[in-house]
Amino acid sequence: MSNAKFITFEGVDGAGKSTGLDWFAEALRKRGIDLLVTREPGGTPLGEQLREILLNQPMHVETEAMLMFAARREHVEKVIRPALQRGTWVISDRFSDASFAYQGGGRGVPLAKLEQLEQWVHGDLQPDLTLLFDIPIEVARQRLSNNASLDRFEQEKGEFFERVRQAYLARAAKSPHRIAVIRAEKSLQEVQQELSKIVASL
Ligand code: TYD
Repeated sequence: MSNAKFITFEGVDGAGKSTGLDWFAEALRKRGIDLLVTREPGGTPLGEQLREILLNQPMHVETEAMLMFAARREHVEKVIRPALQRGTWVISDRFSDASFAYQGGGRGVPLAKLEQLEQWVHGDLQPDLTLLFDIPIEVARQRLSNNASLDRFEQEKGEFFERVRQAYLARAAKSPHRIAVIRAEKSLQEVQQELSKIVASL
């Protein structure tokens, strides 16, 4: 394996993760780093088809969990691992922490089942770094309310997002070396300052 890094971005819907990701990717590119930006669910032609289904079709919670990991299997094998092997850094907009937060925390799928899927799908590959955009749910929902069309997850109630947020924070507490928590309710400028410190440390 090369020294290429695998970095993931996480957070509840409306936390400002995508804006942060764009800025972070640009900062890495400016340093001359060869970089691939991808997303989940998605990142491959099959994964994007699964995304369409996952974001729009009602389904059993465990079907949802398994489809998230099925899309991830494709993504890891076809995109993430080959890129890292050729020395290209990978930034993914969400990865398995999202399944632990949304399907585990949000929907109540037992952690042991998610851990089995994680082990199966990418037991030997974990992100080198995860940036968790954490924000009070009222603020995130305020930001989301500007969106015209909300997907199946974004339409969930406040309590759902509260559980998702807590599950993310519990995961960060368990892996403090991998997961950096970004206080995303701060101003854009302050968030960028925090991100640039992280870029400098890489
Ligand atoms: P998101 O990155 O929020 O897409 P967009 O910014 O275009 O709205 O991701 C889509 C949704 O998928 C998001 O609500 C969280 C959900 N999701 C899960 O529930 N589990 C997962 O494992 C992943 C990767 C995403």
